[in-house]
Amino acid sequence: MTAETAGEPAWRGIATEEVDEVSAPLAALLRRRSRTLLTDLMRPWWRRVAAIGAAVTVASLCLLAGPWLIGVAIDDGVPPVLHGGNVVPLLRIAAVLAVTVGVQAVATRRFVTMTGEVGQAVVLDLRRRLFRHVLALPVAFHESYTSGRVISRQTSDIEAISNLFEEGLDSLVSAALTLGLVGTGMMLLDWRLGLVALAGFVPLTWLTAWFRRESATAYRRIRETNSLVIVHFVETFGGISAVQAFRREKRNFQIYSELSRDYAKASTKAARLIAVYAPGIGITGNVITGIVLLYGGYLVLDGSVKVGVLASFLLYLERFFDPLQDVSQFYNSFQAAASALEKISGVLEEEPSVAEPAAPLALPSASGAEHAGAEGAGAEHAGRRVRFESVRFAYREAVVLPGLDLDVPAGQTVALVGETGAGKTTIARLLARFYDPLSGRVTLDGVDLRSLPDPVLRSEVVLITQENFLFSGSVADNIRLGRPSATDLEVEAAARAIGAHDFIAALPSGYATGVGKRGGRLSAGQRQLVSFARAFIAAPGVLVLDEATALLDIPSERLVQSALRTVLAGRTAVVIAHRLSTVAIADRILVLRSGEIVEDGPPDELMGGSGEYADLHARWAASLA
Ligand SMILES: Nc1ncnc2c1ncn2[C@@H]1O[C@H](COP(=O)(O)OP(=O)(O)O)[C@@H](O)[C@H]1O
Ligand SMILES: [Mg+2]
Repeated sequence: MTAETAGEPAWRGIATEEVDEVSAPLAALLRRRSRTLLTDLMRPWWRRVAAIGAAVTVASLCLLAGPWLIGVAIDDGVPPVLHGGNVVPLLRIAAVLAVTVGVQAVATRRFVTMTGEVGQAVVLDLRRRLFRHVLALPVAFHESYTSGRVISRQTSDIEAISNLFEEGLDSLVSAALTLGLVGTGMMLLDWRLGLVALAGFVPLTWLTAWFRRESATAYRRIRETNSLVIVHFVETFGGISAVQAFRREKRNFQIYSELSRDYAKASTKAARLIAVYAPGIGITGNVITGIVLLYGGYLVLDGSVKVGVLASFLLYLERFFDPLQDVSQFYNSFQAAASALEKISGVLEEEPSVAEPAAPLALPSASGAEHAGAEGAGAEHAGRRVRFESVRFAYREAVVLPGLDLDVPAGQTVALVGETGAGKTTIARLLARFYDPLSGRVTLDGVDLRSLPDPVLRSEVVLITQENFLFSGSVADNIRLGRPSATDLEVEAAARAIGAHDFIAALPSGYATGVGKRGGRLSAGQRQLVSFARAFIAAPGVLVLDEATALLDIPSERLVQSALRTVLAGRTAVVIAHRLSTVAIADRILVLRSGEIVEDGPPDELMGGSGEYADLHARWAASLA
């Protein structure tokens, strides 16, 4: 492994993201946040858990009654039969044995069923909590926590916890009970033989300690390599078109093979440990049984121990060492589950950084139509006034916006231009509250975005980018996303307004045509038109277009542009575009450089001047020629 890590290629970087946080011994495995989560998850179930405990105890007691009853039968049931043919005592013992066997079966059925139910209920709860929480986490979280890791949390980690309930928990409880009860029972039957049996624990403890130490490492390695396999898998197929376009198939396959081989190696190593441990326990148990048999036989000849007691003892010994193997298997499931729980609680601990306001404020009902243009007369909306007040923002260390001041009156259409990297998209994201400013504030009609409840914000500000994502479903479904209550007629009206009706009508089933996964059955430009219709029907107070027409051809763009006049009428709009033709519909142009506004004015004025915009425009016009 070290040889491979030496010339670490860049993709191995993901390895550091996905290391197991948990490597402490068993006792320290459950950190506080995991414990809190577990307590919270189990709270509704404590009655059931108590019932499970009772059922397990009953089942174990019945199981342990068997050897003892056999001993009693040998010593007290068989002699009357031999001397006088009295079968009554033996039959009585047999009847009791039959009852214990029956009770044990019923109790086992109860507790296995109940652990299954509780386990699945808890896992279901956890699964839903996790999904809902991750959904609410900000874009910033999803940028740093790759989707592969999110998937690992939701699949293999949840699986590990589920396994613990299914396989581990009941066997642990019954094993612990068996060890305790059998140990005590053997001491009570005969303390000398009991001591011999307990002596077996010296090598067993040593063997178990070794196994736990080794397997902790081995299983951690299994989990790490497993999630790397998932991360790489997701990345490959998430970017399948890039993979094929750049002929990365071979390389990605190579990486995948290596990661899978690491996983296989780790699993083989763990199997090898079990291959030593399990027979080790078996041998120890048999040696102890041999010694007990020799010593016990001597004691029987001596007359100080009855044959039946020795028989019970030997039968108990059989049961005594078996659970140890279960316990060590359990240890691994437990460790996997604990580490999964730790990672999941880490995700659940992530605060939605753009949190819902504690004391939400309402927006003023109708915006003062300071700038409602003539064309906006018929619109129900006059738009919202947008202000950036000394907004400072940085993604990590590099400051993108040092201190932005911007006032967009209600109903105005502002075009934002500037070089790539100037911070245009950042402004759009702040306005849609994907992030919050480090200092300063963004307001809508004077209300800080942070004070607006999420549904209000989402209905007032709509951001359209070129990555317009469509969901599986029909074209109509996707348009209706903007306003779920919209009728079919309204959906069509929106499509007509935006100039999308013709292409939609030409689709095989018109508005009912499925768009395919991620809208893959439509062209990029068509997807963009659908997302415009979606925004149109949503009728937000503020519309933000970030390079939203970049994927359209010139004729479609013209179409959209005339449609935009309708869409933007009477609402506030921020339009970011490379193609300066798009910008022509703006009332006002802002030129951004390194996060600062260097020019601000109406298009004609700026174009006539000698500033940056005039320059940009001249170069753009030249590029068209
Ligand atoms: N998610 C992000 N994490 C870190 N830095 C980012 C992120 N997005 C953008 N940046 C950086 O912020 C700066 C401004 O980016 P952006 O607002 O996208 O510019 P524009 O849209 O004007 O091209 C760039 O230097 C970019 O590298
Ligand atoms: Mg951008």
